[in-house]
Amino acid sequence: MDKLVIRGGHRISGSITASGSKNASLPIIAATLLTGQGTFTLHNIPDLKDILTFSQLLHHLGVETSYSGNTLKVSSRNVESLQAPYELVKKMRASIYVLGPLLARFGHARVSLPGGCAFGPRPIDLHLLAMEKLGAKITIETGFIDATAPGGRLRGAHIDFPISSVGATGNAVMAAVLAEGRTTISNAAAEPEIDTLCKFLMAMGATIKGTGTTELEIEGTDSLNAVEFQNVFDRIEAGTLLAAAAITGGDITVNGVEPEQLKAVLKKFVQAGCSVETTLNSVTLKSPRKLLPTDVTAKPYPAFPTDMQAQWIALMTQAEGTSNITDKVYHERFNHIPELNRLGAHIEIRKNQAIVHGPQKLSGTTVMSTDLRASASLVLAGLVAEGTTEVLRVYHLDRGYEKIEVKLNSLGADISREKYNEF
Ligand code: EPZ
Repeated sequence: MDKLVIRGGHRISGSITASGSKNASLPIIAATLLTGQGTFTLHNIPDLKDILTFSQLLHHLGVETSYSGNTLKVSSRNVESLQAPYELVKKMRASIYVLGPLLARFGHARVSLPGGCAFGPRPIDLHLLAMEKLGAKITIETGFIDATAPGGRLRGAHIDFPISSVGATGNAVMAAVLAEGRTTISNAAAEPEIDTLCKFLMAMGATIKGTGTTELEIEGTDSLNAVEFQNVFDRIEAGTLLAAAAITGGDITVNGVEPEQLKAVLKKFVQAGCSVETTLNSVTLKSPRKLLPTDVTAKPYPAFPTDMQAQWIALMTQAEGTSNITDKVYHERFNHIPELNRLGAHIEIRKNQAIVHGPQKLSGTTVMSTDLRASASLVLAGLVAEGTTEVLRVYHLDRGYEKIEVKLNSLGADISREKYNEF
């Protein structure tokens, strides 16, 4: 197993290009299941464990993929199985994304119920609601979702999501593009990753109106084509790299990312005293001498994203005062806090709010990753902690960050990746 050994106290400064978006890649790769006409060429796909896991799932279904230099080629010509088994689905919740495309193209899908995750139950009821609205008959037995489209084809419908869900919106759109007739979706997730998925589906020949908004209208079609497509950059990785500069008193330019996709986060960096300049596809951040305490409430897009909540908490341990960070998406997404407190932070948790008392001098020690963004927050804290911080179980980090220590070292950090055994 790998750990990251971080020697703190180095300013992060310089220019770096973000990797391709993980959370846009996953639904896009799932959407290749929608057609057997030709081979897809997908560019700017990050080299991450989650992408490998998803490719393994597609191989299990009979899909051919090849990956090199951040380009993924996919052919779904010979899908032989419509079953996503537990041993693969348990590795990654986003496996549920095969449900919509398989059901839409083949009229049947059998997907293992995903497990829970480190920060609480993550239900899939909204995914099933959308499929049933589109006419699917769904049974849940022996841990599997078994979905069938009567007559082999889904029918367009109106779907009104009671809460905003990125995954359920992605599945609903991927199912609707091959359904018979029109589908309208209200309270759709407007996250850039879903906007990118819609653009990908439109490139394949789908007709979608309202992309990037919470109201979508999809005209079902009979068939779609394989295309070449350039994936967007990862806005959460970009936000994490900006936080690395801010927490170490440094400055950074992150290239590739569209500032609009990070608007709420950039606004908070400015409130915290950072100077932020943007171009069409880059963000430059200069940190202040002293960080100002800045409250944040994580909500669906375009608000501050829950995937930046843990990183923001790490940053606020260095602010001159108290900051309140509330997560309205995942109320229990605070596993990073006990570990940050072991580094010397003073953070309290009250229901779905963290109260961060700063500034606190952090001192390096061994800390445990529990989930992807929690591990990112521990790395950020390690960058500013005095002495050496060892972040264990970095397989969590590798799910969503492409060679993060290589990127940070190129900006002045002193991090090594080392093997270790856990008893
Ligand atoms: C996506 O997860 C992201 N993952 C998550 O990023 C991100 O935190 C989340 O969206 C919110 O932005 C991927 O895109 C692969 P949701 P998803 O459905 O789709 C509730 C990361 O760090 N809900 O938008 O699973 C749910 O419990 C990962 O990269 C239901 O109640 O999230 C949550 O409270 C972590 N029923 C809220 O909706 C459902 O059927 C939002 O979840 C589905 C969700």
